[in-house]
Amino acid sequence: CGIVGYIGHREAYPIILKGLKRLEYRGYDSAGIALYDGNDIKLSKTKGKVADLEDKLEKEIKTNGSLGIGHTRWATHGVPNDVNSHPHYSNSGNLVIIHNGIIENYESLKKELIKRGYTFKSDTDTEVLVNLIEDVKKNENIKLGKAVQIALNQVVGAYAIAVFDKNKPNEIVVARLGSPLAIGIGDDEFFIASDASPFIEYTKNAIYLEDEEMAVVRRKKGVKIRKIKDDSLVDPYVQELQLNLEQIEKGGFDHFMLKEIYEQPSAILDTFRGRMLPNEGIIKMSGIEDNMKTFLNANRIIVVACGTSWHAGLVSEYIFENLARIPVEVEYASEFRYRNPVITDKDVVIAISQSGETADTLAAIKLAKSRGAFVFGVCNVVGSSIARETDAGAYTHAGPEIGVASTKAFTTQITVLTLIALRLARAKGTISSSEFRHHMIELELIPEKVKKALESDAYVKTIADIYKNSNNFLYLGRGYNFPVALEGALKLKEISYIHAEGYPAAEMKHGPIALIDENMPIVVIATKKGHYEKVVSNIQEIKSRKGKIIGIVTEGDEQVKALADHVIEVPETIESLTPLLTTIPLQLLSYHIALMLDKNVDQPRNLAKAVTVE
Ligand code: G6P
Repeated sequence: CGIVGYIGHREAYPIILKGLKRLEYRGYDSAGIALYDGNDIKLSKTKGKVADLEDKLEKEIKTNGSLGIGHTRWATHGVPNDVNSHPHYSNSGNLVIIHNGIIENYESLKKELIKRGYTFKSDTDTEVLVNLIEDVKKNENIKLGKAVQIALNQVVGAYAIAVFDKNKPNEIVVARLGSPLAIGIGDDEFFIASDASPFIEYTKNAIYLEDEEMAVVRRKKGVKIRKIKDDSLVDPYVQELQLNLEQIEKGGFDHFMLKEIYEQPSAILDTFRGRMLPNEGIIKMSGIEDNMKTFLNANRIIVVACGTSWHAGLVSEYIFENLARIPVEVEYASEFRYRNPVITDKDVVIAISQSGETADTLAAIKLAKSRGAFVFGVCNVVGSSIARETDAGAYTHAGPEIGVASTKAFTTQITVLTLIALRLARAKGTISSSEFRHHMIELELIPEKVKKALESDAYVKTIADIYKNSNNFLYLGRGYNFPVALEGALKLKEISYIHAEGYPAAEMKHGPIALIDENMPIVVIATKKGHYEKVVSNIQEIKSRKGKIIGIVTEGDEQVKALADHVIEVPETIESLTPLLTTIPLQLLSYHIALMLDKNVDQPRNLAKAVTVE
């Protein structure tokens, strides 16, 4: 989501509206603005794009007040509709808030507030937070800043918030934990935003709040920053912004694709956050819980998807069969829909789609439903056609993916599918409670390990430089990493236009081996867990044909290192989670090669982000 705020001497409305447009790349399910008109709060919000909001605003709340906040939403809790859009009022109507992030313990807080007589219009965690702040403020008769602080100390989750009180229209209170928040400093005016793009033309001076910091921003008096936990004052560090608008939107990265590759640690965390509690031995996803019987009675799972999502589906075949002992078939949606497939009401179909709009996947879902199957969606875009068409589902929560070549959508899809498989495995009793816990603990460590895998970036770049002029690439892997080999090859094809093939390592003997000579770079995924010795034999076969070997190995590996021309290390983890790590260097390799060849990384020729035609 994107948040914007203004307090100063100019008209707030045009600044906030333009700011929201700049932040639309962060999410565009719905948008809203709250303005103080000198007397009261004027609020308008709508499902859809900022342009839809603009039409509404013209009619509803145009005011020349100089205090306001605005929001463009990427829904996490609650479908994108007018009511769930931000800003949200507190019950008294005095406070108004915008929020980016997830309040994990909102259900228990909500119950408590309902007991105290609070009512809720929306399904959002945000409306709970604003009422919690109001409740604290009222009970303790304290200032807004203090109330926000006390409330946030009761909250578990992630947030960037901005809130103001119509009875004290000279200040905005902001806070951050896990979601970005910048404060632009002008002359007697202040800007608040998720990144500096909304205020770059007004000021080059900005403070970036750190996690667990909050600030009270006062017209004329300035910014006072405190630690949320212990109330200690923090010296504001004002930075001079060097970036231009485009660089800011890309978070300082040169391309959206690179930004999204680097977002994977936090995207994966957002995917399992609140759904998995290793200490309590719990995985909870409402889409699964509500349909547990259907899943447990299913004869088989059929996965339908296209492109990268299909690769995530292939990984899930290994996960579901291994952990939950449910037979799985993975189908290209386009083949499935025209094949007159055998499908019954005993089948569960899982449709995977980043955009939630892919025409073939949508058609496959309709066909499966017409034959009585239960269809479960794994989508990234909240409220998308597939999310709506399916009987139930689980979102990936990866945040908007802009680069056409999919990266964080893939790893978060695998994360969701892993959670589902683990949950079903536990319910079926196909894994022990200690194995179940062990998997969760390992998954919890993955974001840090992805960060570690990203450290190979500079080295991967040197490899890219050596092989950038090759005409062909081969990618090999076995087991869980066979689909990763397919995905690695697809990434290279998509953005560098170099021909690449992914293959199961053992199948190499049945064809691709004929292509191998000293000009052929071969990326081999050879992590310690998972048929390691077999893959080492395959590497030997390549070596004797003089192929150039780029090994993706487990940290500290010696055997492959001795054979390969280059090795890229990833941290160790359990076998089923290795795809989340081995994928990272392959994404980086394709990125660097495409860049060196001067290709358009974010918008490769002929491809589209969402293929809504068959
Ligand atoms: C297009 C995109 C791919 C994506 C595929 C499936 O080809 O360029 O990145 O994997 O569609 O899209 P979906 O949104 O259904 O995951």
